[in-house]
Amino acid sequence: MKGLYAKMFARPDLWQRSPEPFWDDAHISKGMLEAHLNPTLDAASRSKDTIRRSVDWIASILPQTSKILDLGCGPGLYCRQFSDLGFDVTGVDFSQRSIGYAKEHDPRTRYIYQNYLEIDYTDAFDVIIMIYCDYAALTAAERQTLLSKVRSALRPNGIFLFDVFTDVHSKGISEKNVWSVHENGGFWSADPHIAFEAAYLYENGTVSLSRNLIVTESGMKEYFIWDTSYNLQRLTEEVSAAGFEVKAAYDDVCGRAYTGNSETLCVILADRRS
Ligand SMILES: C[S@@+](CC[C@H](N)C(=O)[O-])C[C@H]1O[C@@H](n2cnc3c(N)ncnc32)[C@H](O)[C@@H]1O
Repeated sequence: MKGLYAKMFARPDLWQRSPEPFWDDAHISKGMLEAHLNPTLDAASRSKDTIRRSVDWIASILPQTSKILDLGCGPGLYCRQFSDLGFDVTGVDFSQRSIGYAKEHDPRTRYIYQNYLEIDYTDAFDVIIMIYCDYAALTAAERQTLLSKVRSALRPNGIFLFDVFTDVHSKGISEKNVWSVHENGGFWSADPHIAFEAAYLYENGTVSLSRNLIVTESGMKEYFIWDTSYNLQRLTEEVSAAGFEVKAAYDDVCGRAYTGNSETLCVILADRRS
């Protein structure tokens, strides 16, 4: 195992994955759930008001009989509202804590604890959603796997709706390497720790990595969060290669008209065969 100094200054390889599956970590998922449930923050989930506007907009463009699959549903903040509106909803997430919370608070939605890269549905849903820029947190290979799984899972004429951060957003990210001390524990560990937080840019600045190296008395753990930024052209090229066409584009997942100047981009895809 590399020592601290080497780890701190070694630039991780593009798409290198951290060994720690942080979404499902017992301590981290606790703080994450609190962040999801904070109604005013755009943190793990968007604010309550934004979620309401997203649900209202998405519901307004769907037939009432639509079967919806929410990938990375978290604690079910969207699923619950879609179910309340009468849609048939399934939510998939691989945070046990979030799925546990969702099941407890929303008996109408079907919640499944699963890695969405391993779903295995055929012709099962009219609408698949993936909200809060999770698509772009996947590696290039994982995105291909996801698109192929989504394509199989959609019924004829089904749609895949998701959002990503754009180049406008990533322009504000620069490389850094900073550290902080957390004597009473914090987000990444309940134990006293030092957090070394670095940001790295790859692929002409279109891919960023936030690397959190957490050092406690008992050892070191690393957590990697990747993000790819898009513009409409690059996203269209990527999904076209996977058999989709872009039916519509918006500036956000509340249906704001597309300008290309927004920090987010929301697209609606359909299988080119349908
Ligand atoms: C940024 S949060 C967004 C949650 C939700 N879509 C929302 O906006 O309220 C990303 C969610 O995706 C889940 N997630 C990440 N990777 C996943 C995977 N491979 N399979 C299933 N869920 C995953 C996380 O547990 C987390 O709940």
